[in-house]
Amino acid sequence: MSQSIRGILVLLVLGGLGSRASQRVAEGPEPRIYDYFKYHNMSEISGWMEQLEKENQGVITIINYGYTYEKQGIKLLKIGLASTEKKKAIWMDCGIHAREWISPAFCQYFVRQILDTYKTDEKIGQMLKNMDLYVTPVLNMDGYAHTWFNQSTRLWRKSRSPGNCGDSCMGTDLNRNFDANWGSVGISRNCCSEVYNGARVLSESEAQAVTDFVKARSSEILCFLTIHSYGQLILVPFGHPNITAPNYDELMSVGLAAAKAIKDVHGMDYTVGSSPNVLYPNSGSSRDWARLIGIPLAFTFELRDKGLHGFELPEDQIKPACEEAYAGVRSIITYAHDKAFHITTPNTAATVIATIWTVLLAVCLTSAPLL
Ligand SMILES: *[C@@H]1O[C@H](CO)[C@@H](O)[C@H](O)[C@H]1NC(C)=O
Ligand SMILES: *[C@@H]1O[C@H](CO)[C@@H](O)[C@H](O)[C@H]1NC(C)=O
Ligand SMILES: *[C@@H]1O[C@H](CO)[C@@H](O)[C@H](O)[C@H]1NC(C)=O
Ligand SMILES: [Zn+2]
Repeated sequence: MSQSIRGILVLLVLGGLGSRASQRVAEGPEPRIYDYFKYHNMSEISGWMEQLEKENQGVITIINYGYTYEKQGIKLLKIGLASTEKKKAIWMDCGIHAREWISPAFCQYFVRQILDTYKTDEKIGQMLKNMDLYVTPVLNMDGYAHTWFNQSTRLWRKSRSPGNCGDSCMGTDLNRNFDANWGSVGISRNCCSEVYNGARVLSESEAQAVTDFVKARSSEILCFLTIHSYGQLILVPFGHPNITAPNYDELMSVGLAAAKAIKDVHGMDYTVGSSPNVLYPNSGSSRDWARLIGIPLAFTFELRDKGLHGFELPEDQIKPACEEAYAGVRSIITYAHDKAFHITTPNTAATVIATIWTVLLAVCLTSAPLL
């Protein structure tokens, strides 16, 4: 091998390494590849968001849509491709409950998957042309940072505002604070409770921020997904036992299709149903609120596991948990997209294509010589 060819090969190898290193989080003496299969603290996740925006201009934009009680900017990633047509949208938030660490890990994995596949996976590309994905990796930022403080705060759930009791019992359950039958069922008026619903409806700036952002786009948003753990459930509206969504049958069939997609990945069972039917009644959840303001598809995911590790899901389960949840979410957003854009299901399309091929083949076989 000549010197110059060897030199070119070395350059190619180095070039390959260089493009891999472009996934690193931050400039520094020791560039690191972002590890999606570890849990990350709030500042790492914020750094990751900025890095993704920088590396994916024209596809990812950070939108700051409110402030937490501790005055942190609440940020989402808007992911989409430019289009001259009017676009629809999908909402997904993670980390509304601080201790459910697999949830923010999933939002990050989801974004990475979309970025890694939209150029090669025609369906994902089509969806990014027609829809924007609004992904909030950590909604309850104050609470999430608190769970990283020390081992004794690891299981914090609520926001970090003082509520009505001052310092003795801080925090409101953000998922009981939305304007959906607020204060009626599955809540506590005691601010020391894990399900304290707040001093008043939307007392929490985090719940207010979601409300303002989503309400302003409610006619665009086809689907509202909110990611929790644990229990392996897909919950449909409503949490109140005495009301049923007008499209309950559709919600159930879309949820069951997602559960099947999940099971196909690693064999895990997810149960689908309304909260009172499969978990417990509740009120003031963001999912119920989204359905009440007219967003047709609204689901809560409760990711792995079923209680063995609970909120402290080991890091070696991040990958399988995210892989299966991705399949479930993909199934739902594909349904939402295809319905809105009047696209026949892949099965129907595949049948049509198969028929055309059969006819063409028959024509060829009868007219062409055998080879
Ligand atoms: C977050 O994690 C990084 C990396 O381990 C560490 O350097 C940083 O101090 C942490 N930040 C906070 C606020 O805990
Ligand atoms: C953890 O932080 C809490 C809240 O500040 C504090 O009360 C507690 O003493 C700390 N525990 C440990 C083990 O450091
Ligand atoms: C649901 O309706 C039943 C029968 O009217 C009533 O007894 C019950 O209190 C209602 N539940 C709630 C949570 O309002
Ligand atoms: Zn939760």
